[in-house]
Amino acid sequence: MKTVQVGLLGLGNIGTGTYKTLEMNKAQIEAAAECKIEITKILERDVDRERDITVRPEQFTQDPDSIFKDPEIDIVIELLGGIEPATTFMLSAMENGKHVVTANKAAVAANFDKLMNTARENGVEFRFEASVGGGIPILNAITTVLRSNQFEEILGILNGTTNYILTQMTEYGLRYEDVLKKAQEKGFAEADPTADVEGIDVANKLSILMALAFDTYVAPEDIPTTGITQITRKDITSAAVNGCKIKLIASAKLVDGKLEYSVKPTQLPNSHPLASINNEFNAVFVKGNAVDELMFYGKGAGPLPTGSAVMGDVLEIAKLCGRK
Ligand code: HSE
Repeated sequence: MKTVQVGLLGLGNIGTGTYKTLEMNKAQIEAAAECKIEITKILERDVDRERDITVRPEQFTQDPDSIFKDPEIDIVIELLGGIEPATTFMLSAMENGKHVVTANKAAVAANFDKLMNTARENGVEFRFEASVGGGIPILNAITTVLRSNQFEEILGILNGTTNYILTQMTEYGLRYEDVLKKAQEKGFAEADPTADVEGIDVANKLSILMALAFDTYVAPEDIPTTGITQITRKDITSAAVNGCKIKLIASAKLVDGKLEYSVKPTQLPNSHPLASINNEFNAVFVKGNAVDELMFYGKGAGPLPTGSAVMGDVLEIAKLCGRK
């Protein structure tokens, strides 16, 4: 059986979750891919950190080129986060003939065309399922089995941190600042939570969803975006009096053939399917002109749910590599 070699950029929370997903489920992943999959090199500075995985010291490298120029490596997984140097690294990997998998919504949303075109020009796969909705297979769904639809509407709760904060404020009457701290402790808020609470993370994810579902790329900074920092306990109580919940909603809709989009805190009637999505869970509500209404639900953040999506992409590519 062929061995597909993988280079991993970043062994932080998501990198560790991805590594662990492969470690836990290696036999079944390799059986499904019909080849062996080995993470042979890892670009990571912090080699001494305690991680609940088995990594040999010789797997670590400090030199990205030792991964991009290694003829034995077939797939590069980018899990550094942030736009740079992640984008430059992904482009280098592709230019060196490597397939690329990433969970990096900021880099994909900022450089969507460049990354897609470079992958196409170099005849390599570029997959980023984990970048939207963590473990929820929404990108795969809209680009494969749902492709026969004209999408009419996509509504999403796409950020675990803000949904957790709003849920805790709603259920327990807690203050925004106190809940944010808890979300960081639980590991789904970013170290710098600005992108989460200002809605920027959701705008990145909506940009990717619109590019794939509506073939329309809108840069995240051109999506009208309001975060949750101004939401008070009073707003939440007033919504409750009206039989509503406040959720941070990413919305893209075709209205008279024109795409309308936004990210903003929205009062949803308690009967709306998205109103019952709580804590760090994410959900995406999709309306297609043939399939009608669908809802995708699951963990949108966290090392293992995100690792599951990353490894899913790796598995699909390894299947193709294994056949060559
Ligand atoms: N900080 C993000 C969230 C991580 O809270 O959803 C997943 O993109």
